[in-house]
Amino acid sequence: DAELITAGSGVTVESHQVLGSTNQHLLDKAALLHKGHSCFAEYQTAGRGRRGKKWESPYGAHLYTSTYWSLDAGIQAASGLSLVIGIAVARTLTDLGIANTQLKWPNDVYVDGKKIAGVLVEIIATAGGECHLVIGLGLNVNMPLQAGLEIDQAWTDINQQLPHAIDRNALASRYLTHLIKVLTDFESFGFGHFVEEWNCCDAFRDSPVVLTIGNNKKYGIAKGIDHSGALLLEMDGVISPYVGGEVSLRHA
Ligand code: ATP
Ligand code: BTN
Repeated sequence: DAELITAGSGVTVESHQVLGSTNQHLLDKAALLHKGHSCFAEYQTAGRGRRGKKWESPYGAHLYTSTYWSLDAGIQAASGLSLVIGIAVARTLTDLGIANTQLKWPNDVYVDGKKIAGVLVEIIATAGGECHLVIGLGLNVNMPLQAGLEIDQAWTDINQQLPHAIDRNALASRYLTHLIKVLTDFESFGFGHFVEEWNCCDAFRDSPVVLTIGNNKKYGIAKGIDHSGALLLEMDGVISPYVGGEVSLRHA
């Protein structure tokens, strides 16, 4: 059921009724892909978040999408990537008229303090200094009121935020356009280009937070991100940077 269409700017798109996970789909066929190739599914049977968490992916006119990319700068450059993708999502929502989009380090998008989208960057491989990866986005558009959704935090969707319905194809193409723009700017100018914009959208700026690193909890005040995308945490008047895929941030 995969159909290839050209979405402009060299991006190709395949769309599916159902996939286990759009990220997994591209991970499985990575060797065959070119930069910007993207896939969409109407629903996912095994949508995933970070650290084995589930991404609820009902059939309900959401966006479940993944894009293949590679970075010449290698794996160390990939650390700021989910933050940059968050900016692409924030710009997309701003275009729709949703102004108060906020970003939670490292990979979540909130509106009104409720989660509207999640980003999952997965590394496929590093070869010859290049880092091959898949960028996944789950964006809630119109959550069906069905029983059995397991979302243990406040969530929202585009429909709740706007007084009118939106064109999902236009949404998808806008996201892809912003995505390719941030990715190419990220490659040209580095993460530093995005720090100010990210900090302006920071959902946790100057808030008391708890940072969980494995079994270890650190309490402090969130102070935004530094030039490399590391989270800045102030404890006892000292600000220290934190990085890493196993770090989870909550309001204290
Ligand atoms: P962190 O990664 O910092 O611990 P998190 O708890 O939000 O943050 P993630 O892995 O980023 O964890 O996202 C998965 C979580 O997102 C799930 O545990 C659930 O709480 C929530 N979630 C799952 N599906 C959806 C959805 N469709 N819309 C909004 N939130 C969702
Ligand atoms: C998170 O908040 O932890 C990230 C959730 C990412 C969900 C998207 S939906 C499309 C892509 N395929 C997946 O299995 N996950 C991502």
